Amino acid sequence: MRWHHGAESAKRLPHDCLKSEPTKEKNMDCKRFIKEQTAELKKEVGKSIAINALSGGVDSSVCTALGHRALGRQLKTFFIDNSLMREGEPQRVLKIFKRMGIPVQLVDARKDFLGALKGITDPEQKRQAITDTFYRKVFGRLVRKTGAKFLMHGTILTDIEETVAGIKRQHNILSQIGIDPKKEYGYQVLEPLKTLRKDGVRKVAKALGLPAELAKRIPFPGPALATRIVGEVTEARLKTVRAATTIVEEELKNSGAFQYLAVLLNDYATGIRKGRREFGQIIVLRCIESVDAREATATRLSWQKMERICARITQIPGVNRCLYDLTPKPPATVEYV
Ligand code: XMP
Repeated sequence: MRWHHGAESAKRLPHDCLKSEPTKEKNMDCKRFIKEQTAELKKEVGKSIAINALSGGVDSSVCTALGHRALGRQLKTFFIDNSLMREGEPQRVLKIFKRMGIPVQLVDARKDFLGALKGITDPEQKRQAITDTFYRKVFGRLVRKTGAKFLMHGTILTDIEETVAGIKRQHNILSQIGIDPKKEYGYQVLEPLKTLRKDGVRKVAKALGLPAELAKRIPFPGPALATRIVGEVTEARLKTVRAATTIVEEELKNSGAFQYLAVLLNDYATGIRKGRREFGQIIVLRCIESVDAREATATRLSWQKMERICARITQIPGVNRCLYDLTPKPPATVEYV
């Protein structure tokens, strides 16, 4: 499989497109959007079956709610446990959707993802491995099992723009970079949110009646903690970044920031633990202000808050340093991979 990315596509669509007009979602008519997308999904799917994967992020949650409103039982929703999620995430998300009356099946694909990521350190190869595992292996299996002809996913406009511009290959971009999902994976793709940005998705979430714990959730990328591990993704390194994520999310949940995360670097630094030298791991704390993730600035957290987070993070076994990332986007991106 080839995807057209990098210098070529960057030439075709210069960075200027990222700075295009400010977000248009301020005056959007959510009711009309829902009505139009519901009708469109019904028309596209007809009497067939569609599947979708719910990650618990706001995009896939809106997609799931919208899809069920349009397709009812013709849509089968799966939560893919890829081993890259936050602590306790599968159980938490399944419970919320159960309360909403939307059935979700849990799929254990931990071995598939860990196997595909083994030994890979290059960021784009990592993203490619995740895309292949999701779209070819796991969704391919689910399509065969359910007889589905369609896969619905929550790709949004920012994902498309950044991938097409060659910034970063988002895991859920296919046709926009020359991949024909029907030919490549054996199913058609439905993208009801592809004209929206994050702020628009949140408005639709509210209009669909999603609980605030979903509608207001901070963004979390599809490739999950793999985008927050520089270097190889292993079970041990996932455990470290997962523990740091729990601390950061607990500490910053009332910060009002757009997104906050913990990143595990691939470097080590000398430190002292129990009076002895330790060559320990380094966690980066990132907390940003943004409207739609196209541009971002670091949040001015209080020194006290940062010291508290640092103290907790350096209690994680093997971690002896915690750094705060001040870099805006651009030149940085939000995630590290
Ligand atoms: P970056 O790191 O590209 O992130 O500045 C911008 C926003 O997108 C999220 N993100 C992703 N979401 N699939 C997704 O669904 C991806 O591959 C992906 N990569 C980044 C990121 O968390 C941020 O909110």
